[in-house]
Amino acid sequence: MTTILITGVHRGIGREMAKQSLAKGWRVIGSVRYQEHADEALVSLGTGFSPIIFDVTDQEAIERAAATIDEPIDILINNSGVIGPDRQSCLDMDFHGFELTLAINTIGPLRVSQAFLQHLRKSENGRLLIISSIMGSLAHNTSFDRIAYRASKAGVNKVLQGLANDLEPEGIAAVSIHPGWVRTDMGGPNASIAPETSAAGILEIADRLSLSETGRFLNYDGSEIDW
Ligand SMILES: NC(=O)c1ccc[n+]([C@@H]2O[C@H](COP(=O)([O-])OP(=O)(O)OC[C@H]3O[C@@H](n4cnc5c(N)ncnc54)[C@H](OP(=O)(O)O)[C@@H]3O)[C@@H](O)[C@H]2O)c1
Repeated sequence: MTTILITGVHRGIGREMAKQSLAKGWRVIGSVRYQEHADEALVSLGTGFSPIIFDVTDQEAIERAAATIDEPIDILINNSGVIGPDRQSCLDMDFHGFELTLAINTIGPLRVSQAFLQHLRKSENGRLLIISSIMGSLAHNTSFDRIAYRASKAGVNKVLQGLANDLEPEGIAAVSIHPGWVRTDMGGPNASIAPETSAAGILEIADRLSLSETGRFLNYDGSEIDW
């Protein structure tokens, strides 16, 4: 049976990926930030789901959560993320908000990946995904709004390339994923695709991921995106 760890399952794409993983018969470990969200998720998601609690900026909490898990993890999906502060243009930046965005979107996935690497190593087919965004692509350079968010996702793409390089000798594949423009709290009601569509595409990629695709930046539908 596949065991998957997804960060940020309280809502959005993370919650949908947790639901669909359970429907596939996978065992799901999902992170939330608060005890009441863990209690709610346990009731809503039901059998096969185990919550763990941490903020992705909190190194000690991540390590504490990792220490409670003894079993192999086959798939780690770093999904948690924020859009960043209200003021985030290059001419008017909320610098504290920018730092927090980097801490959550760029450094958070690396903290989580390092802490749970021991569990991925126990799997015979360990796979690591980071939910990034096409807004972090340096190749797609025609929009310059939301610079904190864009920079954080460009940064995490470089982190992903490093992870893919460093983990390839151990047989662990790693990719960066653009989930599409998705109708969640972050994507808003006018976004083009439903969370169900995005989550299904991401899980299909996760299920089939092998070293032949490691180090790539993929759209939720499996097509490749320019860095
Ligand atoms: N929606 C889109 O159109 C879109 C497009 C491109 C990329 N993405 C990326 O897809 C991922 C999921 O986005 P979404 O649309 O599902 O967003 P969402 O509905 O806003 O959900 C964000 C999730 O991240 C969690 N989170 C936020 N800050 C956290 C922190 N400091 N520590 C741990 N967890 C934290 C939230 O937990 P709480 O509930 O506790 O706040 C929530 O579970 C993000 O990485 C986002 O950048 C989304």
